[in-house]
Amino acid sequence: MRQLFRLKSVQDCEDDLASRGGLRRTLNKWHLTALGVGATIGAGIFATTGTAIVGDAVRPGAGPAIILSFILTAIACGFAALCYAEFAAMVPIAGSAYTYAYASLGEFVAWIIGWDLIIEYAVGNIGVAIGWSGHFRELISHFGLSLPAWLATDYRTAYDAVKALAAGATDPNTVYLASAVTGAPELFGLPVIANLPAFVSVMLITILLVYGIKESANSNNAMVVLKIAIILFFIAVGLTLLKPDNWTNPATGGFAPNGISGIGAGAAIIFFSYIGFDAVSTAAEEAENPGKDMPFGIIMSLVICTVLYIALSAVMTGIAPWQSLGTAEPMITALAFAEGPPRLINASRFIISLGAVIAMFSVLLVFQLGQPRIFMSMSRDGLLPPFLAKVHPKYKTPYIGTILTGLFVGIFAAFANIAEVVDLTNIGTLFAFVLVSLGVIVLRYKEPERVRPFRVPFVPWTPMISIVACVYLMFKLPKVTWERFGIWLLVGLAVYFLYSMRHSRLRIKDGQERDAAG
Ligand code: ALA
Repeated sequence: MRQLFRLKSVQDCEDDLASRGGLRRTLNKWHLTALGVGATIGAGIFATTGTAIVGDAVRPGAGPAIILSFILTAIACGFAALCYAEFAAMVPIAGSAYTYAYASLGEFVAWIIGWDLIIEYAVGNIGVAIGWSGHFRELISHFGLSLPAWLATDYRTAYDAVKALAAGATDPNTVYLASAVTGAPELFGLPVIANLPAFVSVMLITILLVYGIKESANSNNAMVVLKIAIILFFIAVGLTLLKPDNWTNPATGGFAPNGISGIGAGAAIIFFSYIGFDAVSTAAEEAENPGKDMPFGIIMSLVICTVLYIALSAVMTGIAPWQSLGTAEPMITALAFAEGPPRLINASRFIISLGAVIAMFSVLLVFQLGQPRIFMSMSRDGLLPPFLAKVHPKYKTPYIGTILTGLFVGIFAAFANIAEVVDLTNIGTLFAFVLVSLGVIVLRYKEPERVRPFRVPFVPWTPMISIVACVYLMFKLPKVTWERFGIWLLVGLAVYFLYSMRHSRLRIKDGQERDAAG
């Protein structure tokens, strides 16, 4: 038992950092904000909003009340962001939630969070790659190019499209997706359907990362400006196409066709679009003045994304009937269904798909870069095998972890369905938020005298609200998602007890100290 709750004290983390030399502190508060916005705006807003608005086989859609879903999730994330901010300012060391848990809740919980972060980073990126692929397909169509559908989608989407056709759908996107089933070559009697662009995009990024492309603060800033510009552009064009009737039409259920349950279910899906502000904390080691700048970066990036998302979702549901938006490219679909000058609409579709492809590429880069570095922290602590901390002699990158992450994400991106991947990512990340919030409370009691450059107000109430809000969103996710998450945690437990517990550096160090003491 003692081993399970053994803490890597904040002092131990700092000693580790001193012995490694740490990273250069070059990022100011606006760089950190840009990092957060860069990691946040991606497939969530560009791709998953459609399912949240329309719903699917297992849950109701929010309809135009998606605007309220965005507000609800922002509130949950806001409370969690304060907790992340307290930790990031107090333990300004790479590793994010994993490191905080090791310092406050002990090795076992740290392991669970580290294992859980694989869901946030790697599984999340499977979803981003699939969203990227959908917009890539739209983009090349403006150059007269297309891929056969069996090379551009997944089984579930293709068979859902077949069902929709049978139910009377006629729109070109559904017809295209359904053609994956009829057009696919067969292997052992089964149609072969794989999302090739999703796979290739991840492989390209993996190659870049092995060679050591450093996402410099300046190139990140440029991409962030572009993302914000694209969203503002959509809002501006959308304002000229608004038909307020779309928000309130009683024939389609009015503003909130499925009431609170639709709003809650929508909130749990679009939680995906907020993931990333917490990634600011992974740069804690590079912040000029972590005590002040970390809280600023985390909270400001959340505020900026919230404002943009609310405006965007209001416009999206205002220009097209909400039932038409249930695709993986809802902004494009909204424009396709909007009534307006065809040239304006066509040009806007091109601009949005280009912007979305670049925006999602940058999210892919941040998380593909982050995952191997979390592996590295865990491997240095002995909880994962040493090869994951191995740095390439020439390129100085954690190449083995980078390649393994790339293969995992790329192969699943080729076959997985975006909605299923997003649900799993959300439950995993919400769970990490719960543990971080709990960690704030625990550490306040255990180490009340520790210097906290940023303090969450009203502890324990604020972290408790964060926990309740995150658990509420978790319960809004389908049962099958809970089952998958449970299996993932069970596998994690097996790895911990069979490998990590025995190789933990902290355990080995403690053992040596006890031996020395006689
Ligand atoms: N928030 C990130 C995205 O939406 C994960 O792509």
